[in-house]
Amino acid sequence: MARHLITSALPYINGIKHLGNMVGSMLPADVYSRYLRQRGHDVLYICATDEHGTPAELAAKEQGLPVADFCAQAHDAQKAVYDGFALAFDYFGRSSSAQNVEITQHFARRLHENGFIEERAIRQVYSPTDGRFLPDRYVEGTCPHCGYDKARGDQCENCTRVLDPTDLINPRSAISGSTDLEVRETKHLFLLQSKLQHKVEAWVARHEDDWPQLASSIARKWLNEGLHDRAITRDLDWGVPVPADTWPELAAEGKVFYVWFDAPIEYIGATKEWADLDPANRDWKSWWYDVDTDVRYTEFMAKDNVPFHTVMFPATELGVREPWKKVDYVKAFNWLTYYGGKFSTSQKRGVFTDQALEILPADYWRYFLIANAPESDDSSFTWEHFTATVNKDLADTLGNFVNRVLSFSRKRFGDEVPAGGEPGEAETKLGGQIAELLAEYESHMESLQFRKAAAALRALWSAGNSYLEEKAPWLEIKTDKDGAALTLRTAMNLIHLYAVVSEPFIPATSAAMRQAFSLDGDIASWVTADEARALTAVPAGTPFTVPPVLFAKLTDEDLEAYKKRFGGEPGQ
Ligand code: 2FM
Ligand code: ZN
Repeated sequence: MARHLITSALPYINGIKHLGNMVGSMLPADVYSRYLRQRGHDVLYICATDEHGTPAELAAKEQGLPVADFCAQAHDAQKAVYDGFALAFDYFGRSSSAQNVEITQHFARRLHENGFIEERAIRQVYSPTDGRFLPDRYVEGTCPHCGYDKARGDQCENCTRVLDPTDLINPRSAISGSTDLEVRETKHLFLLQSKLQHKVEAWVARHEDDWPQLASSIARKWLNEGLHDRAITRDLDWGVPVPADTWPELAAEGKVFYVWFDAPIEYIGATKEWADLDPANRDWKSWWYDVDTDVRYTEFMAKDNVPFHTVMFPATELGVREPWKKVDYVKAFNWLTYYGGKFSTSQKRGVFTDQALEILPADYWRYFLIANAPESDDSSFTWEHFTATVNKDLADTLGNFVNRVLSFSRKRFGDEVPAGGEPGEAETKLGGQIAELLAEYESHMESLQFRKAAAALRALWSAGNSYLEEKAPWLEIKTDKDGAALTLRTAMNLIHLYAVVSEPFIPATSAAMRQAFSLDGDIASWVTADEARALTAVPAGTPFTVPPVLFAKLTDEDLEAYKKRFGGEPGQ
């Protein structure tokens, strides 16, 4: 048994996320956490809303709410959707928590004591039209590196390079569109990342071989460009205040930390939020402090977040010079596109997580998204692909198998698992196949290859179908009643096995499959290779019920309705 700390990138507070966000962070983290828990590991899966920064301020303004009220409501709204998706966080916190303020300020003080923070006067973009300094991401213009004309002042979405607003060509305010921008002088704290370059480089060098190529190549690219000192404070009303004991002047001016400074620290902050709810039994520091070899820490995120997690946050942690846990494995994802184009919140293109749940239960989405996760490349969501996958894999291969076996057995043998004869050649062959596929599934899960794990799971479901077709108990029963009973008992054992191994992907359906059998005692959390081979966990005589249809088949009318509601081809 190992201790696994798992985090997924913190979703911004400013709105409900789309399916692309879900598949690149929280959902695979949940699947992995569930799997590890089933295998008996000690797992702590932490996430939170990322609540600071201008997006929160602007979203609150749009709704006419004080920003704190907006965030409280928006946090609950996101949490409700994640509950709907059955994301089993150990804790879902808030980056605006007192715990995060405390730890963020502590980090800043330590960085200062260690000589990695410096106060500098900088010239910053001020918009007289908007009456405010413009935060980096609210200055838009042309990227000096790739020429993309909608680059933001913090990062170019097109070439992923990190920018400074003053780098932009033809800058304009993203709030008002005004090009009447001035540069005014104001004081800010700078994190001297240039002084930390060597430490970060040495740390990355020790880890990059273990990371997926997507993560290590982005980290390398960033390091090769050289780490620049970066302003880590902003002129905003909403954020973690600069501590007055260390920087009285800046604190008096109301400066707050930049959202990307405090957001990753909230991974720790949220763990403390979790522990503070039950301090007698929960020890947050035992997950984060001086635990380098005791805890394995895995982070999940989309590729635009990789620089912050492989370079910037580790730089902060290294500069603090205290033994805070640093990431062991960075699971990074490419983009999920919508018909090959971008999911877009502003253009309302694509499917949002709350809408998805209005249409179909979470398991349909969980399975489809993970089976098509953008791991080695971008992958495209289309309604055609979605409905075809649901019908083929979930409704036909799994759902139909379960209902067919249980209904037929009840009809011919009553409400208990029938006995039948001793396993024969077909059962031995099936047992061998199942044990092999299970080993494959386990190895893909352990190496966080989610598409491959989904394919192995699907192959396990298919093996049951092949067995059933081969034995054809509906014919067998005419000549060999005992043989048909053996086939059905074996198939019911497969259903029980599917309940166990499908749990990380489709937890609600798994529960329905488990509950079909009234077994004495606890149902095993996992299946050993021998158990898989023997297929005897559910003995003859076990009472069972037939669950309602597990997955509805989606019709052509459904497909048309989805496309009509959400748009199909790009540009529609
Ligand atoms: O890109 C985003 O959506 C950020 N809110 C992710 C933050 S991850 C972590 F560092 F907090
Ligand atoms: Zn660019």
